[in-house]
Amino acid sequence: MNSPANNSPSNAVPAGDGAVWTPIAEEAERATRVLHPESLQLPRPTHRRVLTVANQKGGVGKTTSTVNLAAGLAIHGLKVLVIDLDPQGNASTALAVEHRSGTPSVYEVLIGEISIADAAVISNQSDNLYCVPATIDLAGAEIELVSMVARESRLKEALNSDALDQLGVDYVFIDCPPSLGLLTVNALVAAQEVLIPIQCEYYALEGLGQLLRNIELVQAHLNPALSVSTILLTMYDGRTKLADQVTSEVRGHFGDTVLKTVIPRSVKVSEAPGFAQTVLTYDPGSRGAMSYLDAAREIAERGAAGRETA
Ligand SMILES: Nc1ncnc2c1ncn2[C@@H]1O[C@H](COP(=O)(O)OP(=O)(O)OP(=O)(O)O)[C@@H](O)[C@H]1O
Ligand SMILES: [Mg+2]
Repeated sequence: MNSPANNSPSNAVPAGDGAVWTPIAEEAERATRVLHPESLQLPRPTHRRVLTVANQKGGVGKTTSTVNLAAGLAIHGLKVLVIDLDPQGNASTALAVEHRSGTPSVYEVLIGEISIADAAVISNQSDNLYCVPATIDLAGAEIELVSMVARESRLKEALNSDALDQLGVDYVFIDCPPSLGLLTVNALVAAQEVLIPIQCEYYALEGLGQLLRNIELVQAHLNPALSVSTILLTMYDGRTKLADQVTSEVRGHFGDTVLKTVIPRSVKVSEAPGFAQTVLTYDPGSRGAMSYLDAAREIAERGAAGRETA
C-alpha cells in the first residue's frame, strides 16, 4: 500500500486516485486486507526462514505472536510450520491441533521416533498452516535429553532440508517455553533467526541480557549462523506513559531490529485461544488482528528482500 503511515487529519494527503488519505481510510484499508485474505498476497522469502520465538520471561506474548504471525503469513499465501516446543501446548491449542498425551508430537520427533512430516498436522486456521503439537510428554524431555547423543541438536537434525522440502514450507516458527533449558537451546540451534517478543511493561527488559548472552553462547559453540533478527513489542497500552518509555528504550537499544508495528493490548487477542482460533479468524477486523497482519507483512517484506533485519 502506498498510503503514508500515521496520517493525521491535518496532514491528510490526496491518494493517487484523487481520494484523500485519512486515518479512517487507512484503517478501512487495513481491515479490508484482513477480512479479504485474497486481496493481499505476501511475498515469498528468498530462502526458507526458521525463526525461534524466545524469551525466558513468562507471559510476554511468545505463543500469541507465534500463532498470529504464522496465521497472518499463511492466510496470505505463504506455507508456514509452527513447532510447539512448550509442554504447556498453548500454540497447539490456539491452532486447534490435537495434543492429548500419546498424540504424535514434537516429543517423538526429538527422541527420533518419527519425522517432522509425520507429526505435522494442518491447522483449521489455514490450509497453508502446519503445526507440530506439543503434548505433556514433552515435560520429561528436558531431563531425558540430557543423556542423549547430540542433545542440543536433535531438533536441528529433525528439521533437515529434506523434511522441510517434503512439507514445502517457507517459514518455520518455533514457540519456546519460558526457560533457557535444553528445549530452548534445541530451538536456538535449529534456527537461523531469533524473534524476541517484548512486553511493553516495566520489567520487560529484565532478563533480556541473560537471553542475549545465551544466544551468544549458542552462536559461539553450536550455531554461528544464528542472529536476533526481529524484536516485536507486544501488549502496548497507549494509555500509559510507561508503554511509550519501554518502546523508545527498546528502539534506542535495538534499532531497526524492532518491527515498526507494535501489537496493542487487546481483549480479542487474549480471547481467541479460548475459541481454538487465532485473532485473525476470531475477529479479523479487530485492532489486534490488523496489527498482527501488519507485523507479518513486515516480516515477509524483509524476507523477500533477502534481509532478515530492516
Ligand atoms: N496483545 C495482547 N493483548 C491482550 N492479551 C494478550 C496479548 N498478547 C498476549 N496476551 C495474553 O497474555 C497472556 C500471555 O501470552 P502468551 O501465552 O502468548 O505469552 P507466552 O510468552 O507464550 O507465555 P509463556 O511464557 O507462559 O509461554 C495470554 O493470556 C495471552 O492471551
Ligand atoms: Mg507460550
